[in-house]
Amino acid sequence: MPVCDATAGVLLMFARWWLTLDQVLLQQRDFWQLQPMLAAWPAAFPTELVALLERFTLADCVEIDASPSLQRQHFAGFFPQLFAALPELPREPAADLSLPFWLSTDIGGRKWQQITQLAACVGQAKRPVLEWCAGKGHLGKVMSFYYDAPVLSLEWQQNLCDASQHKAQQLGLQQRFVHIDVLRQPVAPYLQPEQQMLALHACGDLHRVAAREAMRAGCAALALVPCCYHLQQAAQYQPLSVQAKQSGLTLSKADLRLAVQQSCTGGERVARLSQTEMLWRQLWWQWRRQLGLDYQPLRSVGKHWFSGELSDFLAFAGAEHQLAPPAEALLPDLLQRAGQGLLQQRRLELVQHLFRRPLELWLVLDLALYLQAQGYQISLSELCAPELTPRNVLLQAVRRKE
Ligand SMILES: C[S@@+](CC[C@H](N)C(=O)[O-])C[C@H]1O[C@@H](n2cnc3c(N)ncnc32)[C@H](O)[C@@H]1O
Repeated sequence: MPVCDATAGVLLMFARWWLTLDQVLLQQRDFWQLQPMLAAWPAAFPTELVALLERFTLADCVEIDASPSLQRQHFAGFFPQLFAALPELPREPAADLSLPFWLSTDIGGRKWQQITQLAACVGQAKRPVLEWCAGKGHLGKVMSFYYDAPVLSLEWQQNLCDASQHKAQQLGLQQRFVHIDVLRQPVAPYLQPEQQMLALHACGDLHRVAAREAMRAGCAALALVPCCYHLQQAAQYQPLSVQAKQSGLTLSKADLRLAVQQSCTGGERVARLSQTEMLWRQLWWQWRRQLGLDYQPLRSVGKHWFSGELSDFLAFAGAEHQLAPPAEALLPDLLQRAGQGLLQQRRLELVQHLFRRPLELWLVLDLALYLQAQGYQISLSELCAPELTPRNVLLQAVRRKE
């Protein structure tokens, strides 16, 4: 059963919960608004905490970081208010819609499970659906097929619209695609009060604009599974609710990114590549330090770089920042420093990452409070286990009856 605002008491609950999180995040900002890649022990870290962290090996850090129960076991004593502010959201029961195989021909298993799970949680026979930032529109297809619902799918990539419209016609589904940039073009002509808006994994600005536009149109219902909170135009987070607008917390894009940093769900190979990436990025920093230069972030690159040669990566990094790659003889020393730097980084991240979920909930509750104030009844739950997708918070809003 989702955390729901059906009664006056629970109505207040979201506001209280948000406020508690706000206070914890503000009071303990020295533990999470930091750059673990660069930092020594911050002054705010008590000596007992530093002593504990210094006992952890890299393998310990990886294990603890991926386990909420180990996090609690090691750190609840240091951060009692933080752990007290983290009641678990109820998990939606696993769904089985028994759909025909041909509906899921060009989609990965995990994504398909997320989609069918969401469809099972939010569907209602024949209710019109507005699929926001539809991608290939798989969710819309399921809604149209299973609930016999007319679906309008808004999507920015023309090729996805064309291919998916063709597919929908082949399957005889009532699904129409509209090629539109929802951030820059008017969406009002497509939104109707009888619709339910669905936004699965719409990033930062996209899910916030979805919420605002659904309210403007008075949509009957809205279901959001937000992701990538940091993908936004503005340099700082722009709160939606009255409460969050008054908060002393200012969130940069780097802060917002913390909410979506999690240990990998992509298996052993992806985890190994990620470790190599962290080590090589540390090496980049140690190399600059040795040259007496400031830290400059390296842009994101494809994972394939980290199954290749270190020398190629350094040549790339040097070329990006007009530096000649270090001589080969310097590499063993740089690698050793990078290893030490990475261990310090992972120990700091152990603490910083305790604040990931609280920050995500702060952001989701900002949306919830905003929607509640517009006359909607809200429920929050976990769509699925984090192994299926760590971006699993499901916010449902239903327009209250007059
Ligand atoms: C992460 S995907 C999610 C797709 C789908 N909802 C799903 O969960 O499979 C985000 C989608 O938003 C689309 N998108 C990004 N910016 C957009 C914009 N400004 N207007 C409309 N769609 C946009 C992308 O093209 C992409 O298909």
